[in-house]
Amino acid sequence: MLIKTKSGTEIPSSEITPEHIYHSRRKFMVGAAGAAASTLLAACAPSSSSPIPEATEQPAATAAQAATSAPAATAKVVQISANEDELGDAVNSFEDITNYNNYYEFTTDKTGVASLAKNYPTSPWQVVVDGLVKNKRIYDMDDLRSRFDQEERIYRLRCVEAWSMVIPWMGFPLSKILNEVEPLPEAKYVRFETVYDPEQMPGQKSRWFNWPYVEGLRLDEAMHDLTLMSTGLYGRDLLPQNGAPLRLVVPWKYGFKSIKSIVKIELVDKMPTSLWMTSAPNEYGFYANVNPNVDHPRWSQGTERRIGELGRRKTLMFNGYEEQVASLYSGLDLKSNY
Ligand code: MTE
Repeated sequence: MLIKTKSGTEIPSSEITPEHIYHSRRKFMVGAAGAAASTLLAACAPSSSSPIPEATEQPAATAAQAATSAPAATAKVVQISANEDELGDAVNSFEDITNYNNYYEFTTDKTGVASLAKNYPTSPWQVVVDGLVKNKRIYDMDDLRSRFDQEERIYRLRCVEAWSMVIPWMGFPLSKILNEVEPLPEAKYVRFETVYDPEQMPGQKSRWFNWPYVEGLRLDEAMHDLTLMSTGLYGRDLLPQNGAPLRLVVPWKYGFKSIKSIVKIELVDKMPTSLWMTSAPNEYGFYANVNPNVDHPRWSQGTERRIGELGRRKTLMFNGYEEQVASLYSGLDLKSNY
């Protein structure tokens, strides 16, 4: 991975170099992405026989958003420090990253998320951290940005649907929050929950999924330095389509583990059941480590399509982070613990 910390450096958003200067050579191929979207649409759906999730009427629920009235503070921002990751793979363009998204709360159409999500209110916002911890906390975004230095990390994101991107995230290690709340000895897992707001997130009216979106990590995975709470990308605050204002990024796992728009983080003693484990337990497991040797029941995981490239490339074990994370899984059968 490529990590750069510029603690204390504050650059107003207005001074950030426009993304096209970094990546003018990479053009977002709307046509190609659209075609791919229709092919991949069912990839994360519960099973091959399931239709595309439909919008259905359900009672409105209260959004778990914050009730504070202060506007979000301008993030500490930095310019991206490199055009490629540590393997020499080019960073995807801002256009790629912000226009080809998976965010089922809005739509299953990857190229439609940005426009549907664009007015989603992400400020004010609070995140509750509780469960098996010594110090329960409620953070607002200003707290998170001012307490923890924002770092730039260029990570590969490999979706379970076999496409990938290289993204210059901004954020801080999840371990910083966990160290503040101090997990109790009984805490073995971390459970994350996305905001539940079906009035503004039309996809959450779909009965195909058990909303809200939930994900989980083992505590040692959550404490790993690569595990990032992201507040931005390309040196600026996250846009709604990428999970603003706060999302998880776990670069050695399939992208669905990187839950967006988090409002709750809970330390628990039992393995959390994620939205995907409930929807299709035979297809999506708890670990979801990128593994070219364990195929999805409906397609190969041996190769992937890097967005912006024409051919396919080989998928790397643990998405190329094997050296850093393989020891977390020594003795674990990666085939049955998919
Ligand atoms: N988080 C929520 N709440 N809802 C989602 O539908 N999709 C996941 C993940 N996090 C998803 C989510 C999947 S399948 C992927 S590949 C990544 O978000 C995509 O992140 P991106 O759109 O920022 O590239």
